[in-house]
Amino acid sequence: YTWHVNADQGSQSISNLQQAAEALRLWDEPVGFPTETVYGLGADATRSAAVKGIYAAKGRPSDNPLIIHVADLSMLQSILSGEKHDNTRVESPPKTSLLPAIYVPLIERFWPGPLTILLKNPTPTVLAPEVTAGLSTFGVRMPASSLARSLIKSVGAPLAAPSANASTKPSPTTAQHVLEDLDGRIELILDGGPCSVGVESTVVDGLSDPPVVLRPGGVSIDELRTCPGWEKVQKAYKDAAEIGKEAPRAPGMKYKHYSPKARVVLYEASFAEGRRGVLPEDIDSFTKEWLSTRMELAGSQTGGPRIGIIRTRFWAAGAGVSSGPNMVNSVLIGEDTRSIAKGLFSALRELDRRGADIIFVEGTLDDEDIGAAVMNRLRKAASQVRR
Ligand code: TXA
Ligand code: MG
Repeated sequence: YTWHVNADQGSQSISNLQQAAEALRLWDEPVGFPTETVYGLGADATRSAAVKGIYAAKGRPSDNPLIIHVADLSMLQSILSGEKHDNTRVESPPKTSLLPAIYVPLIERFWPGPLTILLKNPTPTVLAPEVTAGLSTFGVRMPASSLARSLIKSVGAPLAAPSANASTKPSPTTAQHVLEDLDGRIELILDGGPCSVGVESTVVDGLSDPPVVLRPGGVSIDELRTCPGWEKVQKAYKDAAEIGKEAPRAPGMKYKHYSPKARVVLYEASFAEGRRGVLPEDIDSFTKEWLSTRMELAGSQTGGPRIGIIRTRFWAAGAGVSSGPNMVNSVLIGEDTRSIAKGLFSALRELDRRGADIIFVEGTLDDEDIGAAVMNRLRKAASQVRR
């Protein structure tokens, strides 16, 4: 059984926050908590036994490093100096910063916020080896969520936290999503309401020359480029152009990530625009294909696939409804990129819950604000991309 407690309203909020902090301090059990990007599954980053609990609860491969969350810069300086953080010390600014100069403008501009930076892990280090998964660097961010920062401050130690979904599922943007995936596998979820950004942090490596973006996220590449030293930042992840060069991926052969149970068919923005009315002929052909695979599997005819549609900008309301009783839902998640990001993971989960077999998703523009993050997640979730 998992305790689900509220922390953003009501008189219980403070004591619930304290309860979560205590669990993190005293037990080796990970706790679900809100950040502005997605919900995290946190543990004291300085204790191995605590960090191991994260991998166990998520079913996450242990060669995948975790992001560290700090409440303030002094906590980060403590990690860089290799010393345990002392919560009770009256804060005096460190004389020399151990932070590489390249990160200073980024931190000034984007922290607290959805940006993760890579730093060299000092020797000796206070970080548990499970956090970095054998790498010589660690990833760290200061979340914009004040609830997250209060929690970290109360624990008095940095929190290692991946997204609080079961491995391969879409990231959770509400406490309810965390419960769907991890009920009974963790002791406590701190509910702070829905996340405001909805996609994970941007991960950057400023230690390489030129600096690179390892994962697109809540801070866009255009925003990064406005910072001194980051004008020539490169993408070190696959974008549409590269994915297009690969052989078409067969359904079921994808690398599973961000995936609902349903099969996701993604329409790139230009393709979606050309099909404003939404695709009755596509639905027909996907239905035929779906039926043929099901007949092979089950040896019998079924009622046809249940269809879900996620709309953004071009597809009309009522789009696809003509396909009749098999339509489970058609949801508009927003027209501007920020709203799309905020509603995306939730919509994928919602259509799963309604029993969709196939979800048709209308994409957005890669180069518009945090559109790169949205499309990166969707291309990973999709078993088929139409362009
Ligand atoms: O917004 C977020 O970043 C959320 C919330 C909870 O803060 N966290 C999150 O964590 O997305 P996770 O574990 O799902 O993603 C962590 C990713 C890893 O998959 C890896 O790509 C990158 O961050 N990462 C972490 N440490 C790294 C390192 N030392 N070197 C390279 N990549 C690293
Ligand atoms: Mg994740």
